[in-house]
Amino acid sequence: MIKAILACAVGILLTTPAFAGNKTASSKSIQHGEFLVGYGGCQDCHTPGWAEHGGQAPKDMLLTGGGTNFQGPWGTTYAPNLRLYVQKLTVREWIARLRALKTRPAMPWWTFRYLSDKDLADMYAYIHSLGPAGQPAHAWVPPGQEAPPPYLKLVLPPAAQPAGH
Ligand code: HEC
Repeated sequence: MIKAILACAVGILLTTPAFAGNKTASSKSIQHGEFLVGYGGCQDCHTPGWAEHGGQAPKDMLLTGGGTNFQGPWGTTYAPNLRLYVQKLTVREWIARLRALKTRPAMPWWTFRYLSDKDLADMYAYIHSLGPAGQPAHAWVPPGQEAPPPYLKLVLPPAAQPAGH
């Protein structure tokens, strides 16, 4: 009896969509992940043409990276291709990565603190369900080096001059 209950409990744990990987992710997880990705604004930077087309893109472009890139004192950063990114990670690795994430601008890495592990797993389920597509985005270019467009440039005010100069 106890054995049967244990076997059942293990079975339930292994098939819990959040932790079982993409193959068994429920459509509810995927839908919630799509909601979080949409409302979290991930597409704004990670999908080419998203903002220009009022939040629309063909499925094969979604989250393929390099949508909006940024140049400033940190160099030039390109929003990575998240569809290729999730292919290399298990859901547990994705959660651990997002929890420890600290990037250069303009990735709002602090927003993940508002999400539970289940939310992050649902995000993974949605992105994974789209399948791999596109090419990797351009790698980070250090400050002062030529970087391929497109990117938004942050222009800082001139350093404040001491009075009388
Ligand atoms: C304002 C633009 C912007 C938004 C919004 C945005 N990102 Fe990013 N993201 C970037 C940029 C730019 C980078 C590259 C940062 C770097 O090179 O240091 C990045 C990097 C990442 C990385 C890679 C981190 C690494 O180096 O391993 C992940 C994962 C990621 N974003 C996920 C997301 C998710 C999920 C969302 C939605 C909640 C999101 N991003 C929203 C711009 C954005």
